Amino acid sequence: MRVGILGGTGPAGRGLAARLASVGIETVVGSRDAERATEVVASLRSDWPDVELPLIGASNAGAAACELVVVATVWDAAVVTAAEHAEMLSGRVVISMANALIKVGREFHALIPARGSVAAGVQAVLPRSMVAAAFQHLPARELGAIDSPCDADVMVCSDFEEATAVTSELVGRVPGLRALDAGGLASAAAVEAMTAVLLTMNLRYKTRTALRVTGVGD
Ligand SMILES: NC(=O)c1ccc[n+]([C@@H]2O[C@H](COP(=O)([O-])OP(=O)(O)OC[C@H]3O[C@@H](n4cnc5c(N)ncnc54)[C@H](OP(=O)(O)O)[C@@H]3O)[C@@H](O)[C@H]2O)c1
Repeated sequence: MRVGILGGTGPAGRGLAARLASVGIETVVGSRDAERATEVVASLRSDWPDVELPLIGASNAGAAACELVVVATVWDAAVVTAAEHAEMLSGRVVISMANALIKVGREFHALIPARGSVAAGVQAVLPRSMVAAAFQHLPARELGAIDSPCDADVMVCSDFEEATAVTSELVGRVPGLRALDAGGLASAAAVEAMTAVLLTMNLRYKTRTALRVTGVGD
């Protein structure tokens, strides 16, 4: 399976790309500017000279052509970017990892995007795709630190069983991550908003938090 990341040049996309590539998943880092994506891939390779990373830099259109696509743009560009590639994404599973947030002093506050979540907005412009919300809580730095295993649960929300299954399988390929079926896309609003709480705790405790849920398969 080849994974494409729209807006893969930011910290989240870079971290996810490095992590997926580190477990042998061919990953296409997409950008509005293919040259920028190529530079990001070169910089990831130079960060990890001893690791074989199956990464490719491309335009967002190149990333959208992959079997499985992640939207990792800044949150307020996620819906527009997905819509630009709607034709290519038709029939595919598309993962939304964006969170609508603002920083207010020493806190992060969740914003409520149209349709309640970024993921629901992405699904609305991709009526022929199967959108799942996932990866919102994973700190980019830990994702990208491929010399250490991850340590987090990933809540997966989708209205399509196939999208939940495919996304959960991808999550399961990464050591230290556990996918949890967190319900339909209606749950994405709560999952995305929770990111603001985690980021606020990061400031309070000077750390980078992630979530583990007890009581499931313990
Ligand atoms: N950072 C984290 O730790 C983290 C963790 C989990 C989830 N997330 C979520 O993942 C998303 C990306 O986070 P990030 O920190 O990587 O964000 P970012 O660096 O601000 O943005 C990611 C990419 O979005 C693209 N972009 C920016 N403006 C755009 C526009 N107007 N139209 C289309 N594309 C645009 C850029 O790619 P090009 O210029 O190359 O096209 C940029 O590199 C966010 O929604 C965030 O909530 C972040």
